[in-house]
Amino acid sequence: MNVLVIGNGGREHAILLALKKSKKVDKLYCMKGNAGTAEIAENVNVDFMDAEAVKAFALANQQIDYYVVTPDDPLAAGIVDALESIGKRCFGPRKNAAIIESSKAFAKDLMKKYSIPTAKSATFDNYGDALEYVRAQGAPIVLKADGLALGKGVLICKTLKEAEEGLKEIMLDKTFGKAGEKVVVEECMRGLKYDPGEEVSVLAFTDGKTIVPMITACDHKRAQDGDRGLNTGGMGTFSPCPFWTDELASEVLNNIMIPTMNAMNAEGRTFKGCLYFGLMRTPDGMKVVEYNSRFGDPETQVVLPMLKTDLMEIFEAVTDERLADVDIEWESGACVCVVLASGGYPLAYRKGEEIKIGDVGDCTVIHAGTAIKDGRLVTNGGRVLNVVARGIDVEEARKKAYAAVKNIGWKGMQYRTDIGVKYREG
Ligand SMILES: Nc1ncnc2c1ncn2[C@@H]1O[C@H](COP(=O)(O)OP(=O)(O)O)[C@@H](O)[C@H]1O
Ligand SMILES: [Mg+2]
Repeated sequence: MNVLVIGNGGREHAILLALKKSKKVDKLYCMKGNAGTAEIAENVNVDFMDAEAVKAFALANQQIDYYVVTPDDPLAAGIVDALESIGKRCFGPRKNAAIIESSKAFAKDLMKKYSIPTAKSATFDNYGDALEYVRAQGAPIVLKADGLALGKGVLICKTLKEAEEGLKEIMLDKTFGKAGEKVVVEECMRGLKYDPGEEVSVLAFTDGKTIVPMITACDHKRAQDGDRGLNTGGMGTFSPCPFWTDELASEVLNNIMIPTMNAMNAEGRTFKGCLYFGLMRTPDGMKVVEYNSRFGDPETQVVLPMLKTDLMEIFEAVTDERLADVDIEWESGACVCVVLASGGYPLAYRKGEEIKIGDVGDCTVIHAGTAIKDGRLVTNGGRVLNVVARGIDVEEARKKAYAAVKNIGWKGMQYRTDIGVKYREG
């Protein structure tokens, strides 16, 4: 099979690396890709937000048998629907199911209607009503812009003053544009052992009939060590989650995952693809923080290297709705991903800095924001490279990853030095 992956980041490079190992795959393509994907796939320069352009490309390139759509924007824009309308086979949800991520108000309503555990919330499209509710609830309180906001649309407000300012920013100043037309006001959840509460990401394959969780991962959202600094797209991940147990796994499968799959079916929005559960362990059990309609970035970079089963076989089984027949197996041990970012990220940063990569041992260097310019590898985004290491446990993988990081550099490179140390006490 010839397979095309849509997207430009580390996640897409990680998916391509996993597909490259597949016995079923001949040639790989990436739309649009980066310098790393170009090493294993043919990069295709088509705007993947333009459904007509994507369809025209697919019609002109009948040698491509299968499309994997991973970023949130093209999924929300219905690129899977567009490709299916011309008979193409895809991995990824249709637009009417991708709404589980693209509207937080939809996700909260779904959870309320089907009794799926999550923080108590109310949704508003009117500033006055929202303000009244926020004042009645008091702080701490969480405000969420309804739509896709590049991971910046959530405000954790410690005081009422912060909440009132946040509400004004989202609803009156329209900092997040259309994404902030509605706002979800949510109870601030506490963790069972940690403050801020402990979180785990569990990705799952689902064909609408069966849902199979992948190995767990933990993300690091803040720019600086100790979870300080601004929120980012993710500065590193590790797998598996240290506090995960078989009991939690069955609680999540039975109370959250299966009910979510059934709820989407009942709504006439069958979800096929990778459904991401952002979860918090609270004193009242596991609760949903959010859903994503796709593989997480950088969770995918630590999850897929642990997958033993042929990824293409799983993708096809999801498309053909026979996921129940596939035995999905995982490696033992652990995996760590350290994100190397441009100086200044997540605020303004420079592009075009030359990247030097020396000896990285048996680590994998996954590319995110990279490009080739005049034959040189240069930075081309905020998150630039992901150094991925496997080990017998998180500590060993962590040491390997940071040893490799020492031999990589460019002007202004920044990264966190504490990926993989949190939640050690379980
Ligand atoms: N109700 C909540 N209580 C406590 N923390 C929350 C709550 N909702 C979100 N958070 C924190 O904010 C982060 C971002 O929120 P999330 O809903 O995942 O939005 P997004 O990933 O789209 O920015 C979460 O990972 C979590 O750390
Ligand atoms: Mg999130």
